[in-house]
Amino acid sequence: MRVLVPLLIVACSKPLPLPEAVPPRQSSLTLASPTDFEGMDDRVERSQALFTEMGKVLQHPRCANCHPSDNRPRQGMQQGVHEPPVWRGPDNHGVTGMQCSTCHQDSNQDHTRIPGAPHWQLAPIEMAWMGRSVGQICNQIKDPERNGERGLEDLYTHMAEDALVGWAWEPGDVREPAPGTQAEFAALIRAWINSGAHCPLEAL
Ligand code: HEC
Ligand code: HEC
Repeated sequence: MRVLVPLLIVACSKPLPLPEAVPPRQSSLTLASPTDFEGMDDRVERSQALFTEMGKVLQHPRCANCHPSDNRPRQGMQQGVHEPPVWRGPDNHGVTGMQCSTCHQDSNQDHTRIPGAPHWQLAPIEMAWMGRSVGQICNQIKDPERNGERGLEDLYTHMAEDALVGWAWEPGDVREPAPGTQAEFAALIRAWINSGAHCPLEAL
């Protein structure tokens, strides 16, 4: 016993291995412009590279938090589950008593820090991006069965003008906005469409 006790103390005081560090999210504050891609002669490769650049916005938490692959919106840069607990509900507007519009108004609210924009709701499940690669998001964004029956021009208009999309650049409080500006993002989409709207290959 006399030997065992100090041994046990030594064993127990050994520091526990730290949990594996989660790499910080790669988030970019800026966006390249279409002219940065003009040197690429191969039209398909240029188009793919343009979409990869668009992916910095699409995968940014300001967009992806509303495009989850389950029934819970996410919050913040760490993309934790929404607090207070809320669910998608039957029509993406929340469940009885916890409708999105109970808390989220048409604009950001300073006192409560609740973000807001017109028609605040969760993106339908077929438009889920979270956990998907840029190539997968590209293919589904172009698929009329999963994008709300939108053609490329409709996609452009939606991303250049929709209120929920626009909110991502004016998210209120201390939230990090989506990279670049909405106009710079729109310019990338236009150049992507003009180059044939090709998707990065990593997700066939
Ligand atoms: C507050 C929640 C919310 C935020 C934030 C949001 N979206 Fe959405 N998004 C939606 C909803 C709801 C729809 C479905 C609207 C419809 O079909 O009319 C949608 C649909 C879309 C679509 C068309 C369907 C698809 O997935 O192909 C695109 C493209 C899109 N969003 C892009 C973006 C981008 C880019 C951002 C960030 C800059 C963004 N969204 C931020 C809620 C959101
Ligand atoms: C009971 C009030 C309440 C309800 C109901 C509610 N929210 Fe929220 N929501 C909040 C608050 C508060 C925040 C801000 C949290 C923070 O930033 O610390 C927030 C933040 C968010 C964010 C985070 C934005 C970001 O990128 O960080 C999203 C997305 C969101 N809500 C979506 C929804 C959706 C979609 C619904 C309906 C299904 C909904 N919320 C219902 C209170 C609510």
